[in-house]
Amino acid sequence: MPRKIIIDTDPGQDDAVAILLALASPELEVLGITAVAGNVPLPLTQKNGRTVVELARKDTPVYAGCEAPLKRKLVTAEHVHGKTGLDGIALPDPTHPLQPEHAVDFLIDTLRAHAPGTITLCPLGPLTNIATAFQRAPDIVSRVAEIVLMGGGCFEGGNITPAAEFNIYVDPEAADIVFRSGVPLVVMPLDVTHKALTSRAWVEGMRSLGTPVGQAVASWTDFFERFDTAKYGSEGAPLHDPCVIAYLLEPALFTGRHINVEIETQSPLTLGMTVADWWRVTDRAPNALFMGGVDREGFYRLLTERLGRL
Ligand code: BDR
Ligand code: CA
Repeated sequence: MPRKIIIDTDPGQDDAVAILLALASPELEVLGITAVAGNVPLPLTQKNGRTVVELARKDTPVYAGCEAPLKRKLVTAEHVHGKTGLDGIALPDPTHPLQPEHAVDFLIDTLRAHAPGTITLCPLGPLTNIATAFQRAPDIVSRVAEIVLMGGGCFEGGNITPAAEFNIYVDPEAADIVFRSGVPLVVMPLDVTHKALTSRAWVEGMRSLGTPVGQAVASWTDFFERFDTAKYGSEGAPLHDPCVIAYLLEPALFTGRHINVEIETQSPLTLGMTVADWWRVTDRAPNALFMGGVDREGFYRLLTERLGRL
């Protein structure tokens, strides 16, 4: 039986590749895609979500969620993802409809309607939708099987401030709620995703698939890469969010430690930092499997094989 997941996301080129990877994989049943404000404002993230579903020729329902963080003004990342959030190839406006239900209601209703421990949440953006659902309906928290998310950093530092990674920084109060929730967490931080860099050969391989999906993925990663290459001097672009879906498909591609991770919500200097007790220097209880390594070749082999199916 396929594993039931809900993808909570702010597409984003790397979110888009993650969604395609999930939709291409029969081991996963994507119950819904819940959009949140993040890389770009909500009207664009929900639209981009529908565009990606349509590109994959699927009918996965897409819901719009929270348009602003719990307590703060939205910070966006057009400087990385472009004005639309999905800059690269020009795709037609989607005809795939937006669901009328709010994403938070969908999360609550779906978790209540399924047996406890059968739904995995996959957050790829700020944690506002998930935290709002947990606050509004505390009974659903214990029904979540697992949360596998992209966010944070330890040795790699931050990418939006010296201390904080974008997804956690945008809504640190929401992240705090999720990290304290008691739900088993698997975290893909920058320590992993900055090792999951595209290579020129891989991008050209995508292009030479000769499919609309291959063209789109190649153009998105080309767009995304210009920023990271200039900023980090790195070889390619880090495909952050697909690491979450790859973990569900092949957990052995990743290595990490089960440790305590807490979120800084007060200090102006380090707001949104994931304070990860990697060396276990405190007696704070472990709450997350915090990843540190990835088999880059295996990861890109998996992506090539799956995206080639769409
Ligand atoms: C995260 O922030 C976004 O820009 C990406 O989509 C990813 O989820 C990386 O820090
Ligand atoms: Ca994202």
